[in-house]
Amino acid sequence: MAHIKKATSMGDWFNQRIGLEKLWNVLAGHYWIPKNISFLWAMGVILTTLFVILLVSGLMLMSYYKPDALLAFDSVNKIIMQEVEYGWLWRHMHAVAASVIFLILYIHTFTGIYYRSYKQGREMIWISGILLLVLFSSEAFSGYMLPWGQMSYWAAQVITQLFGGIPIIGDAIVEWIRGDYAVSDPTLTRFFMLHVCLLPIVVIACVAFHFYTLRVPHVNNLMGDDLEIDFDLEGEKYLDGKTAESKVIPFWPGFLAKDFFYICIFMVFFFYLVGFNYSFSMDPINFDPANSLKTPPHIYPEWYFLWQYEILRGFFFDVGPLKAADIGLMAFGFAMISLAFIPWLDRSDVVKPAHKNIKFAIWFWVLILDLILLSFFGKLPADGITLGIANTYIGFALSVLYILLILVFLPLITIAERKGR
Ligand code: HEM
Repeated sequence: MAHIKKATSMGDWFNQRIGLEKLWNVLAGHYWIPKNISFLWAMGVILTTLFVILLVSGLMLMSYYKPDALLAFDSVNKIIMQEVEYGWLWRHMHAVAASVIFLILYIHTFTGIYYRSYKQGREMIWISGILLLVLFSSEAFSGYMLPWGQMSYWAAQVITQLFGGIPIIGDAIVEWIRGDYAVSDPTLTRFFMLHVCLLPIVVIACVAFHFYTLRVPHVNNLMGDDLEIDFDLEGEKYLDGKTAESKVIPFWPGFLAKDFFYICIFMVFFFYLVGFNYSFSMDPINFDPANSLKTPPHIYPEWYFLWQYEILRGFFFDVGPLKAADIGLMAFGFAMISLAFIPWLDRSDVVKPAHKNIKFAIWFWVLILDLILLSFFGKLPADGITLGIANTYIGFALSVLYILLILVFLPLITIAERKGR
């Protein structure tokens, strides 16, 4: 049994019973972060802040929202936006945060790729991160349905129909997901359950797991392997008062105190968008109520899904027995999970930033350009023409380039860098 003494304070009382000091040191006080990092390492904490904003504003919206196909549209567009005091503010905060979180998620993910923070022991950080990306995509998609506007309805129709491409059981799965033959009231109720209950619980568990996976291998730094850090030794130096000499700082107060500064700057940008520029996060077509008899002329997803959507549309011809729609669906499935395999497709065993390997740097920037172009063409009608070339052909070329970049060029350019450790 633990040796219990008379407590000197309330903290001491808890400490003797549940080891608060030990827990604090593991999580923050003795969790060492390299000094050699930049503002890009603040993105994780900004993501956490945005997630809290989404939770709080979501709870406020839920107090008035009605998950019923007859009432949902008015409960959002009339009651919350016009009758509830500051309802518009909570809605703008929720919509802007949902959009901006993807911008930060992409910056965070591509910082990881640029500095190659996904290997040599950091694979689980990466996998849990990709899981978060998939979970946030599902969260955004289910939330987009809730206002029950035209885009909500037709996006749900298109995306749920994708499951019909699964051989043999596809049609049964589509019916099971929708709870009906077409998207209708039962679909709305179950997506409401996913959006406000099941997915947030899984996201919270996954964020906790992501933080846990960070604890053992320590975060990367601006120089990768070139900066040799013995974290125990440098931590000892810091605790001995040689803080200037030590190459590390503790998570708290050193790292988080700096992150608060970045959060404040980010909040100025965020509330500027909420107050003056929120329209980018809400599609004008979604201010028309859902109508199952009137298909919008051009259906497209929010900006953060456009690159995957373009890959889905990119394969427009049959190959032998394979139908175009099935090839597109397979390519779309690949796009969704492709980044998860990066730690193993990168064949090098060296951790160094992209600018220290010119071939990797070219690969990285071509990948970014390809994703931007895929997103750009994803918003245009598929039957349009750009610079004399049909959009379908451009979308096809960009989709093939994406697959080649991940599956072929990444292993090829990184194999030469191997040291054989
Ligand atoms: C809401 C979602 C997420 C939260 C709250 C989150 C949070 C964090 C935090 C606090 C850190 C430590 C500091 C930093 O580097 O920013 C971190 C590091 C990391 N995260 Fe995330 N993250 C999320 C999503 C992702 C995603 C989608 C990926 C990519 C697949 C990812 C991959 C990583 C990697 C590789 C590191 C280590 C960076 C390094 O070693 O330098 N995270 N994350």
